[in-house]
Formats: sequence, structure tokens, C-alpha cells
Amino acid sequence: MAANPMQSRLHESPIVKDTVDHIMEVMETAFDPTWGEAWNRRQVSDALIMPTTHVIVISASGIIDPPSGSDIAGFCLSRHTAGEEELLLIGVKPTSRGAGLGRKMIEQLIRDAQARGAIRIYLEMRANNPAESLYRTIGFQPIGKRPKYYRLSNGERMDAITFGLSI
Ligand SMILES: CC(C)(COP(=O)(O)OP(=O)(O)OC[C@H]1O[C@@H](n2cnc3c(N)ncnc32)[C@H](O)[C@@H]1OP(=O)(O)O)[C@@H](O)C(=O)NCCC(=O)NCCS
Repeated sequence: MAANPMQSRLHESPIVKDTVDHIMEVMETAFDPTWGEAWNRRQVSDALIMPTTHVIVISASGIIDPPSGSDIAGFCLSRHTAGEEELLLIGVKPTSRGAGLGRKMIEQLIRDAQARGAIRIYLEMRANNPAESLYRTIGFQPIGKRPKYYRLSNGERMDAITFGLSI
């Protein structure tokens, strides 16, 4: 069976054993508990076991998949299935926002997804997420809506919007 280039890159990297720690460190500060979007450690670990799941981490200085010991500021998790890539979760520490790290990870994801044979990337976000402007400037367009899909910590429901990008 041919090696998966992204998994190979991850396993060859000195940061591999710290990947879950890095993701969780960002997770704890990047996601507002109001929205219930953060994943727990078990969800991250389980996702990373799957060969179709891919992760990009970025340092505070903007280096993608930096050497061990770097100051990690963000991560992006995605899943590849049948010619499509789903952006599962992206987060950047609040102290590192607005510096282009989120955009850089999505641009890397586009290149990686193309290398994996994807022709489309899609993602789903809650209706009021300010990340929408980032997604739109990259070219994502809304393609669907799931009414009242998310249940918030206060019990309210919020629509999920699906965005797609042909690559
Ligand atoms: C979405 C997120 C990853 C963007 O990371 P980032 O490194 O700040 O993104 P960039 O610097 O590349 O781009 C920022 C742009 O996106 C927009 N944007 C993204 N998140 C925003 C936010 N929370 N508030 C306001 N604008 C935001 C702005 O238009 C900004 O444009 P500007 O640089 O011209 O001002 C980050 O805000 C984050 O971690 N948010 C919380 C987690 C989340 O909601 N993730 C997405 C759903 S899974």
C-alpha cells in the first residue's frame, strides 16, 4: 500500500509524540465554551488514529509543522474522503490571532488536499462565527444550511452553515 504523504510527514516529524498535547494546548484557549465546539483529548486522539485524518500545526512565528520545542499557536484538523477534504476544526490562540496564521494553515490544507487528490474542500460552521469572513476571503461559498444543528451550552440552538471550495 502506498504511503500517505501527510501521515508520513507527521510520523517523521520530531513533534509527533507531542501532537495531541499541542492541539489540546491551543484548544483550551481558542474555543469559547459558549459554543461547545472544542473537542476533548479523547476525540482528538481517536481522530488522529484514523489514516484519513490530517493535522497541520503552526508556530507563533508562522512555521508550518515546526520542529519540536517550538511555540505552537494553532492547528487545523481535516479528513479526506473520496476526493473531498473536510476541514474539521481550526483554532489559533487568541494571543496570535489576526497575524495570518489561520489563513496560512488553510492555504497549506488546500495544497495538501490537492496532493491527496481532493477536488473540493468543505467545512461546517455555526451561523454567527466571525471566521466566516476568513473563509469567504479564501473563496469558500455557502452551499447549505442545517437549521438548529448546534446546541449551545445555554440550551439554545443555532444553524450550521456548510461552505464549499473547489480546488
Ligand atoms: C478562525 C481563526 C482560526 C482565525 O485565525 P487567525 O489566525 O486569527 O486568522 P487570520 O489572521 O489568518 O485571518 C483573520 C481574518 O479572519 C477574520 N476573522 C477570523 N476570526 C475572527 C474573529 N474571531 N473575529 C473577527 N474576525 C475574525 C478577520 O476578517 C481577519 O481578517 P483581517 O486579518 O483582515 O482582520 C481564529 O479566529 C480562531 O481560532 N477562532 C476560534 C475558533 C473558531 O471559531 N474556529 C473556527 C470554527 S472551527
